[in-house]
Amino acid sequence: MKRYDHKLCIAPMMDYTDTHFRYFLRLLSQDIFLYTEMISADALIHGHRNMLLKFDSSEHPIGLQIGGSSIQKMADAAAIGQDYGYDEINLNIGCPSPRVQKGNFGASLMADSQLVSKIISNIKTKIQIPVTVKCRLGIDDQDIEKDLKTFIKSCIDAGADLLIIHARKAWLNGISAKDNRVLPEINYQAVYDIKNYAKETEIIINGEINSYSDIKNHLKYVDGVMLGRKIIINPLFLLDADTNIFGNKKQSIKLEDIIEIYSQYADEQIKNGVSKTRIIKPLMSIFNNKPHAKSWRRGLDNYRNNELSPVNGLRSVHEDFLQGVYI
Ligand SMILES: Cc1cc2nc3c(=O)[nH]c(=O)nc-3n(C[C@H](O)[C@H](O)[C@H](O)COP(=O)(O)O)c2cc1C
Repeated sequence: MKRYDHKLCIAPMMDYTDTHFRYFLRLLSQDIFLYTEMISADALIHGHRNMLLKFDSSEHPIGLQIGGSSIQKMADAAAIGQDYGYDEINLNIGCPSPRVQKGNFGASLMADSQLVSKIISNIKTKIQIPVTVKCRLGIDDQDIEKDLKTFIKSCIDAGADLLIIHARKAWLNGISAKDNRVLPEINYQAVYDIKNYAKETEIIINGEINSYSDIKNHLKYVDGVMLGRKIIINPLFLLDADTNIFGNKKQSIKLEDIIEIYSQYADEQIKNGVSKTRIIKPLMSIFNNKPHAKSWRRGLDNYRNNELSPVNGLRSVHEDFLQGVYI
């Protein structure tokens, strides 16, 4: 079984980490491990598979995150993912959204270690690529000491190859999925304790990690770090990842070249019917907190609304930007 480095991973994020966003992130770092948005097992089995699963070969290494609670359907969905060429199947056992809870999956599965164990062991009989779990520290009034260890042990015993832990509990009642990403308070020590408890298993920490110094500090205690919102707000943060975290040579590629490559990709995608709204989304925040961020976004809006010459596509936004047209 091929194992990939998970020292720095990008979180599965619904409505963000689609194939276009991942293509763009891969231009920024060769070494990060990427994940899809969560896709439900039902959607994979009954939905438009190619639309849900298609990705560019440059995106490797990439994990497919699936959600569900049916032992059979989860194994079928995992097999579909393996056939599509994904490098890993990740199980979503951390999402607290009411919609996901209604389907009795996501974070609510943390209360049913036995079912999770059956889901994992059944998937393991069907596929050869790694099967991993993304979870929380627990739900509601579960005990982080006792219940979390029981849950982690049952995942490992069932054959989970790696665990990603969002370092806070999920509250299933009374607060939204969004609020559940800032509440309750973060508890990194609980994740370090799990690494001590399960020394042989790769443990990845997640939650409000925003700087290279923080990443390096976490790497003293766990095997990898997963970044979420930081990358939505500032994707160019990843330009330093390969040197800073993986000790590789700095990419010689310049931001202009990255935008040029992405523009060529965009032209191709738009010819194939992808909407401009989806194509420009990964670029929206690249100049956040820089003097001309607003002008850049205005340029992208003009491009989306066909107010620019279509000849040069997306790259004309960048050329105009460099020439100060949007200032
Ligand atoms: C917009 C958005 C969508 C998300 N979608 C998913 C998802 O599909 N699957 C999942 O496991 N977590 C999802 N999450 C949670 C993130 O993967 C991550 O655990 C969380 O944001 C904490 O990490 P951060 O503080 O670095 O953002 C999402 C988070 C955000 C902000």
